Amino acid sequence: MKFFLDTANIEEIRDAASTGILDGITTNPTLISKEGNTFEDQLLKICSMVNGPVSAETVSRDAAGMVDEGRHLAKLHPNIVVKCPMTKEGLRATKILTEERIRVNVTLVFSAPQAIMAAKAGAYFVSPFVGRLDDIGESGMDLIETIVTIFNNYEFKTEVLVASIRNPIHVVQAGLMGADICTMPAKVFDQLLKHPLTDKGVEQFLKDWEKVPVIK
Ligand code: G3P
Repeated sequence: MKFFLDTANIEEIRDAASTGILDGITTNPTLISKEGNTFEDQLLKICSMVNGPVSAETVSRDAAGMVDEGRHLAKLHPNIVVKCPMTKEGLRATKILTEERIRVNVTLVFSAPQAIMAAKAGAYFVSPFVGRLDDIGESGMDLIETIVTIFNNYEFKTEVLVASIRNPIHVVQAGLMGADICTMPAKVFDQLLKHPLTDKGVEQFLKDWEKVPVIK
C-alpha cells in the first residue's frame, strides 16, 4: 500500500517525507491556491522533495486545453502525473495523453461506472473521493470495494488511489479492500502512527530507566 500526502504545503511534505515512507503527492487547484506561489514553481519544489508521483491538475474545460496543459506539466519534471477531471472532455484528454505516454490521474470520481470509463481510457490512477461521498450520506468505502473488485476482474492496470480521506479508518478499510494508494492530509498521516498506549508506554519505560544504576 502506497501513502501519498494530499497537500501542496512544503513544510507538511518535508515533515512526512522525513519518515522515509512517503510515496508521492497529490495536489489540486484548491491546495495550490493556499500556498501563494506560481503553480510551476510550487510543483518543482515538491518534485525535488519526493521521489514518486506528484499529481498536478489541469484547469481547462475542453480536451484540447487539458492536453496542452498536460503536455506542459509533464515536461516540468518526470515525477508529474497529470490530473484530468472525470468528464467526457477529461476522458478524451486522458486517452490522448496516455497514448503519448503521459501518466494521467482521473480525478473527481464518485461512481463505479466513472472508474471503469477512466480505466478504459488508460488512466494511470483513478481517484474516487471517499470523504465527499460520506458527506452526502453515501459510503465512500463501499465504492472503493466495488472498484477494486471490478479492476481485479478485468486485470485493469489502473491503480485505485483513494482520495478525500478524512481519518485513519478510511486507510485501514482501503488496506482490507486492496486499494493501491491512499492520499491523505498531513493530519491523517500523523494520526496513523499515534496510539495513547504507545505514548504512555514510552513515558513509563523512560521513567523506569532512570532507576537503573549506572557505573560511575
Ligand atoms: O485532492 C483530492 C481530494 O483528496 C480532496 O479531498 O478533503 O477536499 O474532499 P477533500
